[in-house]
Amino acid sequence: MCGIVGAVAERDVARILLEGLKRLEYRGYDSAGMAIADDAGRIHRRRAVGKVASLEAALAEEPLAGHTGIAHTRWATHGRPTDANAHPHMARGQVAVVHNGIIENYEALRRDLEGAGYTFESQTDTEVVANQVHRHMASGADLLAAVQATVAELDGAYALGVMAADEPGRLVAARRGSPLVIGLGIGEHFIASDVFALLPVTQRFVFLEEGDVADVRRETVAIHDRGGKQVERPERLSEVSPDAVERGGYRHFMLKEIHEQSHALAETLEGRLSRDAVLPEIFGPDARPIFDRLQRVQIVACGTSYHAGLIARYWFESLAGLPCDVEVASEFRYRRHVVPDGTLFVTISQSGETADTLAALREAKNLGFAASLAICNVPESSLVRESDLVLMTRAGPEIGVASTKAFTTQLAGLLLLVAALGRRHALTAESEAGLVAALHDLPAAVERVLALEPDIADLAERFVDKRHSLFLGRGAQYPVALEGALKLKEISYIHAEAYPAGELKHGPLALVDADMPVVAVAPNDELLEKLKSNLQEVEARGGELLVFADDRVQFTPRDGLTVLAVPSVHELVAPLVFTVPLQLLAYHVAVLKGTDVDKPRNLAKSVTVE
Ligand code: G6P
Repeated sequence: MCGIVGAVAERDVARILLEGLKRLEYRGYDSAGMAIADDAGRIHRRRAVGKVASLEAALAEEPLAGHTGIAHTRWATHGRPTDANAHPHMARGQVAVVHNGIIENYEALRRDLEGAGYTFESQTDTEVVANQVHRHMASGADLLAAVQATVAELDGAYALGVMAADEPGRLVAARRGSPLVIGLGIGEHFIASDVFALLPVTQRFVFLEEGDVADVRRETVAIHDRGGKQVERPERLSEVSPDAVERGGYRHFMLKEIHEQSHALAETLEGRLSRDAVLPEIFGPDARPIFDRLQRVQIVACGTSYHAGLIARYWFESLAGLPCDVEVASEFRYRRHVVPDGTLFVTISQSGETADTLAALREAKNLGFAASLAICNVPESSLVRESDLVLMTRAGPEIGVASTKAFTTQLAGLLLLVAALGRRHALTAESEAGLVAALHDLPAAVERVLALEPDIADLAERFVDKRHSLFLGRGAQYPVALEGALKLKEISYIHAEAYPAGELKHGPLALVDADMPVVAVAPNDELLEKLKSNLQEVEARGGELLVFADDRVQFTPRDGLTVLAVPSVHELVAPLVFTVPLQLLAYHVAVLKGTDVDKPRNLAKSVTVE
């Protein structure tokens, strides 16, 4: 999703902005641009379709230099990825704007501005902001007042960075619905979509709140709330180390993050388990009275986080004895609901900024839920700030667009929640002890699965020339199959579908032939024999099967069947453990296909628009 960086400094800001853009690349984008004011108070701009490297090349040919600047990576929403649609957008050479989000009433504003003689060079919604700010400045407002007047006229969601040619040394930033952070330096200040962009220059941050407008100068930062009143927002020290967003020795962030899972899971569980129980206070002091009243759970999330919710539903119902519904946020927010008494509203999100999930949470506040609880990886995120209760997954920054360690740590967090709620319902102390023992062993179990990587890399060759594939699982492994298929399609662009194995005969079997590899996940559970019968149906149609199976499961060796033995684990944690080989499979297929693994086409890491 779009990324914003801005800087006001005594030193030249071009390199800071470029480095910031590179650090925001993980969010997903399709063009990039930069505008810097020179000492004579003129704004110069460079834009390029494609990667930040293309912008860098354009800057090498025609450098920009100056002390005040804004830069942007754009993920196209209104208008194709072209130079003309790339940000920054400018009004009459005087005002430059970068924007993340969507201005819903831009057509009306555009008509009005055209009526007032303004012209437009792009198809974007953003250009109205530049022109509107210009219009207010032309009637005498300074940059701050012009941005305040403009945002009061906008419907929709935005994070904005704005500069004006005749007010050098000043940036105005505004936030509503899309994240924006201010980085504090000494005699220099910065703005960005997230802290990663600014880690090379500062670890001190102020997070803007909804409706805030900030006046950012070299020596001062003044924040005004939505009513225009000047307010103080707390300064926070980021705990993310600058190296956390480096690739280390790995070829891709995704591979690094797959391999970090064992450590990340250990972090998620650290200090939250005794020898045989989940510690009672890990959801905070407010949790106990809320948890005591709960009778059911509603989970809402998007993408990979939604798959974590689907797995958790099995756990809530089978282990905790609590009814659980799971829905994608974009659907949840647009339908009517009947909310039974005592329902906990649970959101799951890596970023905590996904627009649909956030909107669903806000909607849920008026629907009579008992409380909201977020399972999230980013402590400063909107979702965390707006939820009653929170469990941080502590996975560390995830840069690869295809989510890996965020997913498995979400699952670990969900198991903690299942135990905390379950012991008030159907979960016995004995079952909890079994679960906790499995959790203690989990980081080591994931290490054991990661050791399968060379075998999986070999298997990946079979997929390279395929256009379609099918993933099968049963029970809690069906969402694992969904996640495996999502990983493969996201990064290798091979069409991948997942089915509960029992549904095979109701449609997808018609597609099975030698050109469609079928991947199955076979833990050693009560559904194993049923799954084996489903796999026979595939083999009988000449399909080639790749089965990731618990190492206790026996398969008769035969043509058309490849079995990869996965070290056996407790049934409850099997979904986490079986996810890892599917991540590795997708990764190695994508590498062989030569796709952009960490930044797959058309996708964004953090989807901050609807
Ligand atoms: C995007 C990302 C996915 C992610 C989804 C939900 O689609 O590409 O990897 O699962 O958003 O993101 P969240 O931050 O809410 O977990």
